[in-house]
Amino acid sequence: MDIVTTAAELRARVAAWRRDGARVGFVPTMGNLHNGHFSLITLCRSAMGGRADRVVASIFVNPTQFGPNEDYARYPRTPAQDQAGLAAHGCDLLFAPAVEEMYPFGIGQSVRVEVPIVSVPLEGEHRPGHFVGVASVVTKLFNLVQPDVAVFGRKDYQQLLVVERLLRDLRLPIEIVGAPIVREANGLAMSSRNQYLSPAERERAGLIHVALLAMQDGVNAGTPFADVERIAVAMLEKARFVTDYAVVRSAQTLLEPEPGQRCGLIALIAAKLGGTRLIDNLPIDENAAVRRLFETNHVSFANPLTNL
Ligand code: PAF
Repeated sequence: MDIVTTAAELRARVAAWRRDGARVGFVPTMGNLHNGHFSLITLCRSAMGGRADRVVASIFVNPTQFGPNEDYARYPRTPAQDQAGLAAHGCDLLFAPAVEEMYPFGIGQSVRVEVPIVSVPLEGEHRPGHFVGVASVVTKLFNLVQPDVAVFGRKDYQQLLVVERLLRDLRLPIEIVGAPIVREANGLAMSSRNQYLSPAERERAGLIHVALLAMQDGVNAGTPFADVERIAVAMLEKARFVTDYAVVRSAQTLLEPEPGQRCGLIALIAAKLGGTRLIDNLPIDENAAVRRLFETNHVSFANPLTNL
């Protein structure tokens, strides 16, 4: 695996592959890679199919998507371990730029990309400015790599919708693949932030997945959404989580569902355990109708809706 740090080197490398007829896949990350990330690399390669195809990963802890009181400074940075893992999983090229390379005019003077509507609720409410940072850096990265396929994890479900909307609005010819959530044995969704948890908290954090499963069961049993949400919050707070939200939403829009709606729904939770904020989600109805709904959004899902 080659490693480049500048836009010029990245462009030259990708251009040479393209001259040889390769298709290019892309997995953007913030590093501190775990098996969830490595599954994205594997999926990226299989999504493209051909042997001559190439996979680029980026590692960039993007300052503009962190709020002033968030963990930008202490976000775990493990470059040597990440490089070894990417190479072992078949990544061809790592782009690991400095902040100045991505924001040549400085962070305050940089172009900002805002995706309306889908950025607004949930994470948008609890992390003001977060999705402007994500959309801006993803646009820059797409512009540099110009991939045919890009893979994003479904753990950050709202991010996936934001990226998909961005891509369609800017008419970027990139296929987005939403990768299944990879979980620990206790159901905890893999995340770089899990390492902030103590061993006891890590065990307890599996309750988020239990709460999501309870929400799924509740909706499928016809329990009103408000009750489903109230029960999930009570479960979490009993285990000393501080819940930002535990909601059932329309999977396509993240808007509140109609009272009788039973199709195309997703349960989403964000909750803090000690000082660590965790997010997770679970589609409610695991049937072909939901898959079609997702696909009309032009997001393809590998192994759809079977992420348990
Ligand atoms: O999901 C992430 O790791 C980040 O939000 C992303 C997409 C790499 C942008 O910085």
